[in-house]
Amino acid sequence: MKKVRMGIIGVGAEGGMYADFLLAGKVSNTELAAICDIDPVKKNLCDEKYPNVPFFTDYIEMLESGLVDAVCTTVPHYLHPEMGIQALKRNIHALLEKPAGVYSLQVSELLEYAATRPELTFGMMFNQRTNPLYQKIKAIVESGEIGAIRRSTWMITTWWRPQAYYNQSAWRATWGGEGGGVLVNQAPHQLDLWQWICGMPTQVTSRLKFGYQRELAVEDDVIAMTEYENGASGVFITCTHDLLGTDRFEIFGDKGKIIVEGSKKATVQVLSRSEQDINRSMTIEGVINLFKGKKLDDYEVNEYVIESAQHQLEQHPKVFENFSANILDGTPLLAPGSDGIKSVQLANAIHMSAFMDSRVNVPVDEKSYLTELNKKIAAEKARG
Ligand SMILES: NC(=O)c1ccc[n+]([C@@H]2O[C@H](COP(=O)([O-])OP(=O)(O)OC[C@H]3O[C@@H](n4cnc5c(N)ncnc54)[C@H](O)[C@@H]3O)[C@@H](O)[C@H]2O)c1
Repeated sequence: MKKVRMGIIGVGAEGGMYADFLLAGKVSNTELAAICDIDPVKKNLCDEKYPNVPFFTDYIEMLESGLVDAVCTTVPHYLHPEMGIQALKRNIHALLEKPAGVYSLQVSELLEYAATRPELTFGMMFNQRTNPLYQKIKAIVESGEIGAIRRSTWMITTWWRPQAYYNQSAWRATWGGEGGGVLVNQAPHQLDLWQWICGMPTQVTSRLKFGYQRELAVEDDVIAMTEYENGASGVFITCTHDLLGTDRFEIFGDKGKIIVEGSKKATVQVLSRSEQDINRSMTIEGVINLFKGKKLDDYEVNEYVIESAQHQLEQHPKVFENFSANILDGTPLLAPGSDGIKSVQLANAIHMSAFMDSRVNVPVDEKSYLTELNKKIAAEKARG
């Protein structure tokens, strides 16, 4: 079987893990062909750990080496779009780490260029899309089984990170190095799944806390309220300081609801008739009986449970497998590169609402967002 020759750019925590599983043959259609990092310490480590894998200190040299068909960008977020463009320009397929970028203007430029190269594969490492649970929930929502969405809420506070995590690399949790906190590092996974399943909102109002429980300049606590074109609303809560965190995603439609707990179990309840329909025909006697706990003839509730045994570490090899299959035989991408901008637009809008202390449209004006981000970076630099 022909294998895609993959180059990993950035062999830090994530890139190191990818290099390990590719070398161990965990992705049947992909081989580790080269690695790149600007850090000389990483070169020594890689020479020891991967003696037969060519190492580059300049990713452009790796792209032009003839050794790789594709690259994955496991580097700090600001670099993803430019590395994506440089790869595609050299006929190299690009798998971008999340987030696709820090601000949507840079991701728009990437998408514009990628659109001119449809013959190349351009994908996103949205590994949580491989979770069969979320794939089924997306299918349920799209089939109309629970009706039109009225409200979706996601409390995802299981992203606990101690101060030592932030202190491990200088780029983390800074405006200049990372471009934000939990919204650009951890929560892009859920922002992506949320919009993948429930669609993009049109407006956002948020309340963020910056450096609330950690010594950081960026946000470590987020509450955002979203509004959608059909009148639906949403709430997104995330933080990195709940040691006993919660991962609970609820979708309420006019014909049912889905409650997802821990990204492992979903309880789906489906009404035999829509709530509007039941509302129209319900008599006051019916209401009294309902309050007395009597079973009514007016409607039935069908309930079922979906469970996923998938471990998170199984997800990343699956994204590589799907990405390489797209290169080799045109298998549809689970996470096309063009989807990468949506979670960036959401994160930018949530930031912008807090910066402006007002409700903002989604997407926010790209240039205005960059201006605000640059102010944060300048203030951070001035503080030293
Ligand atoms: N999909 C996931 O589940 C997941 C999980 C963790 C991290 N990530 C993403 O992976 C990216 C990297 O995160 P990390 O935790 O591995 O960071 P890290 O700091 O541990 O590693 C980043 C590496 O990139 C290298 N680097 C920086 N600039 C470079 C350049 N110009 N050329 C080559 N190498 C360069 C650094 O030297 C470092 O070794 C981030 O964007 C993060 O969001 C994704």
